[in-house]
Amino acid sequence: MLKKIFLGLGALLALLIVGISGFFAKAYFSTESRRNTVYKVNLQPVSITSDSAELAYGNRLVTAKGCRDCHGDDLGGKVFIDDPKLAFLVGKNLTKGKGGLPEEHDINDWVLALKHGIRKDGKPLLLMPSHEYTLLSEQDMSAIIAYTQSLPRIDREFPPQKIGFLGRILTEIGKIDLFPAEMIDHNRTLLKEVKAEVSVEFGKYLSSGCQGCHRANMKGGEPIAPGFPIVADISSTGNIARWTEEQFLQTLRTGKTPEGKILKPSEMPWNMTAAYTDTELKALYLYLRSI
Ligand code: HEC
Ligand code: HEC
Repeated sequence: MLKKIFLGLGALLALLIVGISGFFAKAYFSTESRRNTVYKVNLQPVSITSDSAELAYGNRLVTAKGCRDCHGDDLGGKVFIDDPKLAFLVGKNLTKGKGGLPEEHDINDWVLALKHGIRKDGKPLLLMPSHEYTLLSEQDMSAIIAYTQSLPRIDREFPPQKIGFLGRILTEIGKIDLFPAEMIDHNRTLLKEVKAEVSVEFGKYLSSGCQGCHRANMKGGEPIAPGFPIVADISSTGNIARWTEEQFLQTLRTGKTPEGKILKPSEMPWNMTAAYTDTELKALYLYLRSI
């Protein structure tokens, strides 16, 4: 009898091990195949001007759209996830120095990255939030490209990216969006420009920069990655409904909410929203309270 139970338990354990390794193997091969998918897209030409007003606007946008959070303050690249289980991910060196973009990297390659989330070879960029940047107007995208193309060379090299086993499993079960290219409508044309004014429409446009974490409906939810806090509801059903416009502006500039909560810039990137103009924040306030 005892022997039978042991045999039974042994078989169960063996089954469990086979099951787990089978699931991991599936996660491994499926993430590898998604990573090697080659996207073919029709490139929409974007023209740029590089006068000083355009460069200054591009510089501000690069802060306001969060590029520096992942690519470093000087955009010379930085490691932004370094957890052997999860991944080793580098926000690429965006200058043309050593370890940066290749010499021949041109405007079209920029559009591939920002609008489509892919590299020159058509393969998807990892975790680069292009599903947000694809919603930028042509005017804003072109200013960002003009500015980043004008950057001085910075030599900074990194080891290659790696995806850990937990990163693969979380990707497989849909808890991490490792391949933003999959979420993009590649046939969409860019809006020409969006009028900067205190309107719901402009607020909605700006909210694409919040979507990645607060979700399309702005109601937040589960943490964006293990170790991060629950994402707050910032629609009219969240705390914002009770805040005055002034309190909203203050929160997004100082990281301190009217309830006295201190927001960490590494979790809620308010150093990014601190670069927004009054008009932009007021438009966001209008929009968020309208939904
Ligand atoms: C959440 C972090 C994050 C943010 C925010 C972010 N990036 Fe990235 N970006 C990455 C990562 C990671 C890579 C490297 C992906 C890879 O090699 O698979 C990358 C790669 C790139 C590339 C390289 C394309 C290539 O061909 O190798 C460009 C260009 C780029 N980002 C531009 C930008 C710009 C401009 C912004 C702001 C508008 C921005 N990124 C914001 C994470 C980010
Ligand atoms: C990288 C992810 C991320 C992005 C991008 C992001 N947020 Fe957040 N935000 C969070 C998280 C996480 C919290 C909750 C932080 C906490 O509980 O400590 C939060 C909290 C907030 C809060 C405080 C809400 C409350 O009730 O206390 C406001 C307001 C807010 N975000 C507004 C915005 C706006 C507006 C944008 C876009 C311009 C934005 N966030 C973009 C992650 C993000």
